[in-house]
Amino acid sequence: MHAVQIRAQGGPEVLESVDVADPVPGPGEVALDIAAAGLNYIDTYHRSGLYPLACPAVLGLEAAGTVTAVGDGVTLVGVGDRVAYTSSIGSYAERRVIAEDVLVPVPDGLELETAAALMLQGLTAYYLVNDTWPLQAGQRCLVHAGAGGVGLLLIQLAKAKGAEVFATVGSDAKAALASGAGADHVIVYSRDDFAAEVEAIAGDRPIDVVYDGVGQATFAKGLSLLRRRGMMVTFGNASGPVEPVSPLELSSNGSIFLTRPTLFDYVATRDELVTKSNSLFAEVEAGTLDVRIGERIPLAEARRAHEQLEGRATTGKILLIP
Ligand SMILES: NC(=O)c1ccc[n+]([C@@H]2O[C@H](COP(=O)([O-])OP(=O)(O)OC[C@H]3O[C@@H](n4cnc5c(N)ncnc54)[C@H](OP(=O)(O)O)[C@@H]3O)[C@@H](O)[C@H]2O)c1
Repeated sequence: MHAVQIRAQGGPEVLESVDVADPVPGPGEVALDIAAAGLNYIDTYHRSGLYPLACPAVLGLEAAGTVTAVGDGVTLVGVGDRVAYTSSIGSYAERRVIAEDVLVPVPDGLELETAAALMLQGLTAYYLVNDTWPLQAGQRCLVHAGAGGVGLLLIQLAKAKGAEVFATVGSDAKAALASGAGADHVIVYSRDDFAAEVEAIAGDRPIDVVYDGVGQATFAKGLSLLRRRGMMVTFGNASGPVEPVSPLELSSNGSIFLTRPTLFDYVATRDELVTKSNSLFAEVEAGTLDVRIGERIPLAEARRAHEQLEGRATTGKILLIP
């Protein structure tokens, strides 16, 4: 079967298609036919070396597919079950083995592609508005990269909480997508100074919580927009990692809370994983959450997918199709 692996960390050119033997599930594991693997920004950190990874490695933390075989002692799923997962590396492949306890059943009414598109970015958007800073009606949040995979979902979930949503995006075409997702105010931050624009709209330091997946390029200005005792949620490094911050900077900006969360701490138990996934699946089935699949790219073209993602040329979710 085909997989896409890296033998060493580096640029997109290290992604290579390889033929590997079909994996056989061991105790507590199942074999999965992958229908769609999700592309996520973290894949570029694993590839580039920003995050350490033992090589050779098959990248990809998310997929959905069908169980084709089960190992000894498996009780949670059976052959033929449609399942999805996040947080287990090795998704850039036609088939894989995986521990049964990270799998979530996909409801009959939901496409496998939609489930694959929702797991990592959807669960992230979910924990950001429900757990990290439980967003209240009338609060103001700022969402960077609002037309991205996390961004479009986060805007919708924040609007559903009754928040006033400010979003930044890199182009006018992306602005239309962020507005379509419900953002109240959209700023093209590649052209306009987003801090000045936000304050022109809502006054001095008007933001309760900044959700910042862009990192280095936006962090300092985001901090300057927070109201007293607001929260800076820096959850990604699309523009590079944030420089170290002195605790005194948090006090001088108004007793700001700073957190650097990661999804895996918010779906740390199986109960959390299943409950939160089911909540997202139900919203999609009810039509209250829209999952935009920006492009389906053949798995063998994973290198192009990485180039597009790092080149800010994608919107919504990119799926890799084996
Ligand atoms: N901590 C967690 O639990 C967690 C979980 C999921 C994702 N994340 C993080 O959330 C962020 C978004 O992830 P995603 O998978 O949904 O990606 P994405 O938002 O679909 O893509 C990244 C976007 O970042 C923006 N960006 C700004 N400066 C950039 C630069 N210098 N280079 C590249 N992109 C830049 C671009 O949008 P514009 O052109 O509109 O600026 C780009 O489309 C990433 O930082 C990711 O690591 C964190």
